[in-house]
Amino acid sequence: MKARTLFYCTQCGNETPKWAGKCPACGAWNTIVEQPAAKSRGSQNSPGRSRSAGPARACQLSEIDRVEEIRFSTGLRELDRVLGGGAVKGSLVLVGGAPGIGKSTLLLQICSVLCTASKVLYVSGEESLGQLKLRAQRLQVTGESLYLLSETNMEDILETIYETGPDILMVDSIQTLYQSSLDSPPGSIGQVKGCTLTLMDLAKRQGITVFIIGHVNKDGAIAGPKVLEHMVDCVLYFEGDAHNSYRILRAAKNRFGATNEIGVFEMQNRGLSEVENPSKMLLEGRPEGASGTCVTCVMEGVRPVLAEIQALIAPSSASSPRRTSNGFDFNRAVMLMAVLEKRGGMRLSGCDAFMNIIGGLTLDEPAADLAAVLALASSYVDRPVPGDLVAIGEVGLTGELRAVNHLEQRLSEVHRLGFGKCVVPKRNSGKMPHYDGLDLIQVNNIGEAVRAVLGKA
Ligand code: TYD
Ligand code: MG
Repeated sequence: MKARTLFYCTQCGNETPKWAGKCPACGAWNTIVEQPAAKSRGSQNSPGRSRSAGPARACQLSEIDRVEEIRFSTGLRELDRVLGGGAVKGSLVLVGGAPGIGKSTLLLQICSVLCTASKVLYVSGEESLGQLKLRAQRLQVTGESLYLLSETNMEDILETIYETGPDILMVDSIQTLYQSSLDSPPGSIGQVKGCTLTLMDLAKRQGITVFIIGHVNKDGAIAGPKVLEHMVDCVLYFEGDAHNSYRILRAAKNRFGATNEIGVFEMQNRGLSEVENPSKMLLEGRPEGASGTCVTCVMEGVRPVLAEIQALIAPSSASSPRRTSNGFDFNRAVMLMAVLEKRGGMRLSGCDAFMNIIGGLTLDEPAADLAAVLALASSYVDRPVPGDLVAIGEVGLTGELRAVNHLEQRLSEVHRLGFGKCVVPKRNSGKMPHYDGLDLIQVNNIGEAVRAVLGKA
């Protein structure tokens, strides 16, 4: 199929039967583009492109041939889920995350499965071939169709891509690559954008699926994945707590699927393993009989996930009390504290307040409000929330509890994990499901919820 496609150089016009990084006639880099060659074929296949050198013609929707989306599995179900059901051929996926979180491990690990059906080229600008071999041994990655290259010069990489002809390309990391035509150093915004654009072009024109690693850095000295988000098809962030081995992969952008799914992994001695039961993982090591903690159930895509919210309220000696929130929107946490003060009669304004979500999870669903309020109230009155209780519900400014969606799925997960009680908004009552051994406590507002769970104030 590729052999019949014609290419030409946009600089000197020289025609070549194969795509190349460098024009064999004038020596210019990255100027070879595909030519819609034979007019008869061209008009049929791509009506928008009448002549190679002329501007593209706008065409009617009905003129465009139906394009089939070709998906393939990466071998990791959690990654496939976040990608929206596998990777799409010819797409460009950016995997971002802090250094050391496990991005290289993830990509090298999936090479093992990918190279059974496709030719894979793994380009590393960070590690030598020896280091890559060591990592591959550790991850037990083998395969005749896996090619490794340790290189940072974009032109040389393009040349190797042309020679090797991979179906899948991995680039580790975008911040180490440079194009010699640009003056700026590797990692600068210009270089990072320029190299990504070249790779994007490659993905779209050659149908190569490209995975790019981008380090997220706090000081901003190196251009991070944020500056590339608008260019690529898919942005995945690999997150986790440096102190535990669990890692969460989430999609921040996906042109081929939803962005609300998460993938959960555990970093082990021989690479990343998939976590089948994230709720169990997130609830591991929960303190017993301690005040200031409450479990909730949030929807991560189509999956209900149980998470623990912890809060600590302590008298403050500062004129303006401290408030911090980790894994829970700060402004929402402050709003819930104000509601608890005004509607629940707890004087939090004179106290420092700290909130934390266990396991590195970020809760951005209002259904987690009620558990946050109960964790705060439990710490304030220093009485524990019962260990077998889960709270679900959105809290409004008047302290009322609003109905939540997908209550049935949430309750089924709560029941599956053996919890005995669940506080839910009364407003959901019309469609309240029943589970044996699970007591539903229906409440109208946070006052009723606090009294039902913690007793009289
Ligand atoms: P790495 O994939 O190099 O991170 P990144 O590419 O995001 O910078 O992973 C680095 C960490 O993972 C390192 O601290 C070692 C640990 N690790 C394991 O625990 N098990 C393994 O099998 C591998 C390959 C790495
Ligand atoms: Mg790495």
